[in-house]
Amino acid sequence: AKPEPLKIMMSGAPASGKGTQCELIKTKYGLVHIAAGDLLREEITAGSENGRRAKEYMEKGQLVPDDIVVTMVKDRLSQPDSQENGWLLDGYPRSQSQATALRDFGFKPDLFILLEVSEEILVERVVGRRLDPLTGKIYHLKYSPPENEEIAARLTQRFDDTEEKVKLRLHTHHQNVKAVLSMYEDITIKIDGNVLKDDVFFQIDGALSMLLEIKSASSSMV
Ligand code: AP5
Repeated sequence: AKPEPLKIMMSGAPASGKGTQCELIKTKYGLVHIAAGDLLREEITAGSENGRRAKEYMEKGQLVPDDIVVTMVKDRLSQPDSQENGWLLDGYPRSQSQATALRDFGFKPDLFILLEVSEEILVERVVGRRLDPLTGKIYHLKYSPPENEEIAARLTQRFDDTEEKVKLRLHTHHQNVKAVLSMYEDITIKIDGNVLKDDVFFQIDGALSMLLEIKSASSSMV
C-alpha cells in the first residue's frame, strides 16, 4: 500500500524561523505549507470583515479569536492537495482550544516540531526581517540579504515587526505554549533553532526522513 503522506506541525516563538524552515521542508518533501499568519494576512489584504477583525488582535500581538482562525485552517487542510501530498501546519495550533478543535475534526499530526531560540536572537531576527511582496520570500538584512538591488528596493516590513510588538507576541507565546505542548508530548521533537538555517534544517531533515522510512516500512507490511 502507498504510505500515508506526512502531516507535520511547526511551532516556535515569533521569528524562531518557522516560515524559513517550512519553505525548505516544502521544497524537499512536497508538503502543502499552511501558515495561519499568512492566511490571516491574506484576509487583511482582501479587505474582508474577518481580516479587519483579525488585524486588531495582530496589532496587539494577541491571538486572533478561534471563530476566525479555526475554520480558516480547517478549510485549507481539507483541500485535496493537502490530503494527497500531506501538510505542514505553521503557527497553528497556538492554544489548547485550537488543538482540540483540530483533533475533533480528525486531523492528527505525525510529528510536532518545536523550534527553540533564545529571546535575544528572536528580537534581532524580527527587526531585520524583510519580505519580497512579489515572490513571498523571507529575507533578513544580515542573515539572508536580498540577491540584488532590484529585490532590495521592493522589500517590505510586516506591520507587527517592531521590537515593541514582538515583545507582546512573545508574551502571548509564553502564555500558551505549555498547554499546546501537553497535547502532543508523545510526538514532539525539540530543535535547536539558534544556529544557521541550513544547520537547523539538517536536524529537521534527519527526523523527517526517519519518519518517512518508518511509514513506508509499516505500509509495506499491510
Ligand atoms: P505569524 O505570522 O505566525 O507570526 P509569528 O508566530 O510571530 O512568527 P513569524 O512569522 O514572525 O516568524 P517565523 O517563526 O515564521 O520566522 P521566519 O522564518 O520568518 O503570526 C502573526 C500574528 O497572527 C500573531 O501574532 C497572531 O496575532 C496571529 N496568529 C497567527 N496564527 C494564529 C493562530 N493559530 N491563532 C490565533 N492567532 C494567530 O524568520 C524570522 C527572520 O529570521 C527572517 O528574517 C529570517 O530570514 C531569519 N531567520 C530564520 N531562520 C534563521 C536562522 N537560522 N539564522 C538566522 N536568521 C534566520
